[in-house]
Amino acid sequence: MKKQESRRDFLKQVALLTGSTVLASQLSWLRGYAANPSEKIFRGDKIRIGMIGIGSRGYLLFLHLKDIPQAEIAAVCDIYPPHLERAIRMSDNKAKGFRDHRKMLDEMKDLDAVVIATPLHTHATITIDALQAGKQVFCEKSMAILPEDALKMVRTALETGNLLQIGHQRMFNPKYLHAFELLRAGQIGTVTQIRAYWHRNSSWRRSVPKGNVADFADPKMYPDMEHFINWRLYRDYSRGLMTELASHQMQVANYILGSYPVKIMGSGSINYWKDGREVFDNVNLVYTYPDGTQTIYDSLTSNKHYGLEEQIMGPKGTMELEAGLMWTETPPPAPGILQLINNIEHGLFDDLPLGGASWVPDTPVKDNGIPILNEKLEDDGTRLEMEGFVHAVQTGEKYRDLLKQGYYATIVALLGDEAMMTGKVITMPEELILKNF
Ligand SMILES: NC(=O)c1ccc[n+]([C@@H]2O[C@H](COP(=O)([O-])OP(=O)(O)OC[C@H]3O[C@@H](n4cnc5c(N)ncnc54)[C@H](O)[C@@H]3O)[C@@H](O)[C@H]2O)c1
Repeated sequence: MKKQESRRDFLKQVALLTGSTVLASQLSWLRGYAANPSEKIFRGDKIRIGMIGIGSRGYLLFLHLKDIPQAEIAAVCDIYPPHLERAIRMSDNKAKGFRDHRKMLDEMKDLDAVVIATPLHTHATITIDALQAGKQVFCEKSMAILPEDALKMVRTALETGNLLQIGHQRMFNPKYLHAFELLRAGQIGTVTQIRAYWHRNSSWRRSVPKGNVADFADPKMYPDMEHFINWRLYRDYSRGLMTELASHQMQVANYILGSYPVKIMGSGSINYWKDGREVFDNVNLVYTYPDGTQTIYDSLTSNKHYGLEEQIMGPKGTMELEAGLMWTETPPPAPGILQLINNIEHGLFDDLPLGGASWVPDTPVKDNGIPILNEKLEDDGTRLEMEGFVHAVQTGEKYRDLLKQGYYATIVALLGDEAMMTGKVITMPEELILKNF
C-alpha cells in the first residue's frame, strides 16, 4: 500500500514538474515516466533479473525489486555463502544461486537484466561481462576504481547498445528533482557556489567473521578476511570517502552546474582512525567548473555534528537539498538588537571617507527556511530508481543522460582522490571527456 502511494506521490511530482518545464525534456527517464504513466509503467511480461552481490546494499535493492510486480529475481550470485544463502531464502527458494557471475551469465541466458552491488573494484569486469552477454545492467556507484575502466564501461554500453544505469538515486528523488526545477527557473539566481559535505562519527569498520578467505574469494585478491569484509578501507578495492560518499554529492553538483569540473585541488589525510586503513578519514577539495564556479567538498569520519548536506548558493537565495529547505537573500528583518547593531554600525561608518566599515558582521540567517517540497518522502529515491530500471528494461529506454551523470560523478571522485594523493592540481584529462554524448 505504502509502495503504491510512493509511486502515486512520485507521479504527482512528475506531473507537477513536467507541466511547464525543461527538466522532463532533459531527463530521458523522467520523460518516459511522464509520457503516459498509467499505461506505460509495468506493462508487459515480468523481466528476469540476476542480482550480483547481495551484501548490505544488494539486500536493500533486492527488497525493493522483490516488491515490484513486473520484476522477477531469477538468479542470485555472491561469492560469500552466507549472503548467497540469505538471498536464495529471500527469493522463497525460487532464484538459482551462483558463486561466479560468469557461470550465471553462461547458464541463465534468459535473464533480461542484472543488478550489481559488489565492491567497487569488481564493478568494471562484472558490468562489461554482463553487457557483452546482452544484459541490461544496473550497477551501483561508483562505476570503477580507475577512470579508464569507467570509460570502458561507457564504451561497452554504447557498443552493445545495452542499458547501463548507475546507482545515483538522488536523480529519482522528487525532492531533488523539484529543487533542480526551481534552480532552473531561477529561484536563487545563477548558482555561484556549492558547498557539500558528508560527516560521520564512526570507524566505518565492519566486524570480521572467522573463516579462511580462500573459501570465499580469490586469495590473490584478498589476503585475509579483514580485506574482504572491510574492502572500503583499502586502496586495492576502494577510494574510500570519495567513491563511497562524495560521488553522490558530486553527481548532484555536476548536474546543477550543468558541467564537470575542469580543475581539482584537494588535501586529505588519516588524522584520526590510525587503525591500519589506507583510505583517508578526512578529505577536503575544491572543484572548479569552466565558468569559475566552485564546489567545495569535505567529508570526515570523526564528527557528525553537521551531518550531510549540499548547499546551493546564488545571489537570490540558498538551497539545502538534503534538508529540503530554501531561503531567500531578502529575508524578513533581523530581530531587534541585531538590527539595531547593524543600523548603528552602518550609520557610524557608511559616512566615513574610507568607504564604510569593513568589519560590520554579516549576520547569518537564522530562520527555518521554506520547504522545497511540501510532501514528506520516505524513500531516498532508491525505490523509484529500481522502478525506473525495471521500466527502462521493459521499454528499451537507455537513459544515456543518467549514464553521463554516473560517469562524471565517478571521474571527479577519482580525480579528487588523485589530487589528494599527489598534492597536485589536476585538470580534467582530455581523454576522459565523453565526446558526442
Ligand atoms: N547508492 C547508495 O546509496 C549505496 C549505498 C551503499 C552501498 N552502495 C554501493 O553498493 C556496492 C556494495 O556495497 P555494500 O555496502 O553492499 O558492500 P558489501 O560488502 O556489504 O556487499 C558486497 C557483496 O558483494 C559480494 N561480492 C564481492 N565480490 C563479488 C564477486 N566478484 N561476485 C559476486 N559477489 C561478490 C560480497 O560477498 C558481498 O556480499 C558498493 O559499490 C557501494 O558503493 C551504494
